[in-house]
Amino acid sequence: MVDFTLTDEQQALRDMAHDFAEKEIRPVAWEFDRDGTWPEQVLRKSWELGLMNSHLPEEYGGPGASFFDGALIEEELSWGCSGIATSIAANGLATAPIVLGASDDLKRRYLGMLAEAPLYASFCLTEPDAGSDVSGMRTTAVRKGDKWVINGSKCFITNGGYASYFTVYAKTDKDAGHRGISAFIVPKDDTVTVDKKEDKMGQRASNTASVSFNDTEIPADHLIGEENKGFKLAMMTLDRTRPGVAAMATGIARAALEFAVDYSKQRVQFGVPIAMHQAIQFMIADMATKVHLARLATWQSAVLLDQGRRNTIESSHAKRFAADAAMEVATDAVQVYGGYGFIKEYPVEKLMRDAKIMQLYEGTSQIQRLVIARETLLPRRDQAPVAAGA
Ligand code: CAA
Repeated sequence: MVDFTLTDEQQALRDMAHDFAEKEIRPVAWEFDRDGTWPEQVLRKSWELGLMNSHLPEEYGGPGASFFDGALIEEELSWGCSGIATSIAANGLATAPIVLGASDDLKRRYLGMLAEAPLYASFCLTEPDAGSDVSGMRTTAVRKGDKWVINGSKCFITNGGYASYFTVYAKTDKDAGHRGISAFIVPKDDTVTVDKKEDKMGQRASNTASVSFNDTEIPADHLIGEENKGFKLAMMTLDRTRPGVAAMATGIARAALEFAVDYSKQRVQFGVPIAMHQAIQFMIADMATKVHLARLATWQSAVLLDQGRRNTIESSHAKRFAADAAMEVATDAVQVYGGYGFIKEYPVEKLMRDAKIMQLYEGTSQIQRLVIARETLLPRRDQAPVAAGA
């Protein structure tokens, strides 16, 4: 049976996340956006309430929320501020490869660490010369006795300046393309340097940094899953996290729609509120449809994960549609506000800046189309539950 009604527990979780977004995030969102500073107190409170790390399995001290529950939370937090929501959600991205492929010992240690204290972890895939083309990475990991030695630089790392550890992808066989990449857990130490905090267009409350590993030594058992199987682990990770990004994009779009609706009822032009003009009504209608469909696609892609099924194409549908919808709806909200929409005193210009990153991070809208095209033209047969290293 297909039923889109939320259970009482899901509704309560959504209300709790909304309440947090309304009372703790919204009142400070524009201040953190202006200053580009780190919202430590807000993040800490989200951790205390279990809104951070909601995905962590119960056996490792987390709340063990489903992907669907995670999507409910992420839409609400992002409705408050997608920059702060990104910093709250980033542990989910960093720990997904650990949940998928790490040994029980590593899970206990590194997932447990995040459950026990408000600490951060970062996902290190992208490099200056390897963005969409993951297999072009240059970071290396060389086995020396009972250690791996890691060298290289990663960029656009969410929460990179505050991470206690990193999940790092590195070449373990330089000549093997995507089949020569492995994933590691790298604790922060003196050999790990945070080189640069980016000054961004939007999502200015989230920390985005370049991180370098300089002869960084980690124990041999800090390899996640099998050697040279890191590329697939990264792809499986992104399948799991893109529904969350789609949920965040839906949250931005919904916030923009709500602001535009309120404003259109107040702003009087030609003797009536502009909501009375069909030109505005049609824009509002298109915005509402996009929010609705973005949420439906997001929910479906998350439910497939909860059912243990591969969701590659649905995840890309949701991420692509919701990200583009967020950009379009936020841009239209600025249009509904007219000249005021362009002014920082009004809320929607921030949403337009924030929405842009949705079309860029965790795979650009073009990469999502590439995935959708491949999965449509040459559908993979293995729709069965996926296992790490598969
Ligand atoms: N699940 C499991 N396996 C998968 C898979 C999936 N979803 N997708 C691909 N694979 C497997 C393929 O089956 C293939 O396996 P074999 O080795 O057995 O042949 C292998 O992986 C290689 O696949 P492709 O030939 O499709 O690989 P490609 O080099 O053409 O790249 C790509 C595919 C979709 C373009 C991929 O590189 C990609 O997703 N790029 C975007 C990267 C991205 O999203 N980066 C964002 C970084 S994270 C971030 O932004 C967060 C932040 O903190 C800011």
